[in-house]
Amino acid sequence: MEENKPLRKRDKIIRGFSKLLKEEKLKAVAEYIENPGEFIALLKSFWYQDFEKQKQFDEFSENTISNYHVPYGVSPNVVINGKSYVVPMVIEESSVVAAASAAAKFWGDRGGFHAEIVDVKKVGQVHFCWKGEKQTLINLLPEIKNEFIKNTDSITEKMKKRGGGILDIELIDFTDKIPDYYQFLVTFNTCDSMGANFINSILESFGHTLQDFFSKQDNLDEESRIVEIVMCILSNYTPECRVKVWVECPTSELNGIDERLDGKAFAEKFKKAVDIAIIDPYRAATHNKGIYNGIDAVVIATGNDFRATEAAGHSYAARNGHYASLSYVEIKDDIFRFTLDVPLALGTVGGLTSLHPLAKKSLELLGNPSAKELMMIAATMGLANNYAAVKSLTTKGIQQGHMKMHLANIMNQLGATEEEKIKAEQYFKDKTVSYSEAERFISKIRS
Ligand code: MEV
Repeated sequence: MEENKPLRKRDKIIRGFSKLLKEEKLKAVAEYIENPGEFIALLKSFWYQDFEKQKQFDEFSENTISNYHVPYGVSPNVVINGKSYVVPMVIEESSVVAAASAAAKFWGDRGGFHAEIVDVKKVGQVHFCWKGEKQTLINLLPEIKNEFIKNTDSITEKMKKRGGGILDIELIDFTDKIPDYYQFLVTFNTCDSMGANFINSILESFGHTLQDFFSKQDNLDEESRIVEIVMCILSNYTPECRVKVWVECPTSELNGIDERLDGKAFAEKFKKAVDIAIIDPYRAATHNKGIYNGIDAVVIATGNDFRATEAAGHSYAARNGHYASLSYVEIKDDIFRFTLDVPLALGTVGGLTSLHPLAKKSLELLGNPSAKELMMIAATMGLANNYAAVKSLTTKGIQQGHMKMHLANIMNQLGATEEEKIKAEQYFKDKTVSYSEAERFISKIRS
């Protein structure tokens, strides 16, 4: 019946959408689709039968009408600082988990990955405008800071007990760039939580305190008793919440990776590829994307915020005024060392880490790590994927491996049987894979 209804015109607005029930939302949205019945059935087929379980997912976000599945893979035998992990990786891109696993195996035989936390400081800012004398602000600073701390005691109490809290409050004068504009740059330790809510609550409290404080300064002129709070928000640029991971071995242990090059020559070519990503932003973006293939997969699997970690990494990659690689290679005394130096603000308690049943299990699979340990694990997978990508690029190219997966995906799309898939794999061994070629091959063998 619904199938005969005309499609909803795209210039019409659905009013009051957020107030509709889930079923009603689904129906309203289906009006944009040629076959609404099929659309509704498909989206519903991805609902959990268990009402409570589905409700939990629906409530993570808004206007939810279904669930979107992404593969959950694992990379076993990842040795970091002598400890072995099975690392969960949630990613839709083929080859990433295989590449990480192969790199983990290779480096596992060469001492594993080494990792160290540089620091775990997170930052937030109160951006405000004030028209008074700068020196007055400086003179009042100790008093203002005291008020800040006093008024946030109830928020920081628990975090202080865990060893965290507010570490520093710095006034920064930007009045030469924007008239009357200052900021408080606040540094935090949020222990094992990502801490976004904690930080933002404190910053908003600081904002109120600042306005309140100046409104009571009767000795100041009227204008100086007014503070404009522009915004209070954490910064995703966390250069001091950082981790370093590296692998190293004598170049002779790289013999055999490329049949045309010995280990030393391979190491030098590999370094050249990484150096290119250090000087050239076009290459750096792709190089770093390969790093985030590994990092994001772990970040998502553990219920962390991958947009935040990417924002941190890409801004850190541009810290010297031009966008560059997050990893680098050193070859000294015939020792090859490949290092990734990356900011990562992750949490292992609170938020989705405990709400999402799979995020919770991912953390259990990793042995319920601290936030610091998780930073090391996620960065390791970034380095593993970076190593695998640059190794492939500098030896046989990446298409060989990718095309195998690509062919498998096409075969699935064409509804190929297992027997047909094997035949296709044989046939395309030395040929270029494309959808149309695969389609032609399938119809040929079927006829
Ligand atoms: C593909 O997802 C990632 C690579 O492009 C990374 C790289 O080029 O280093 C293979």
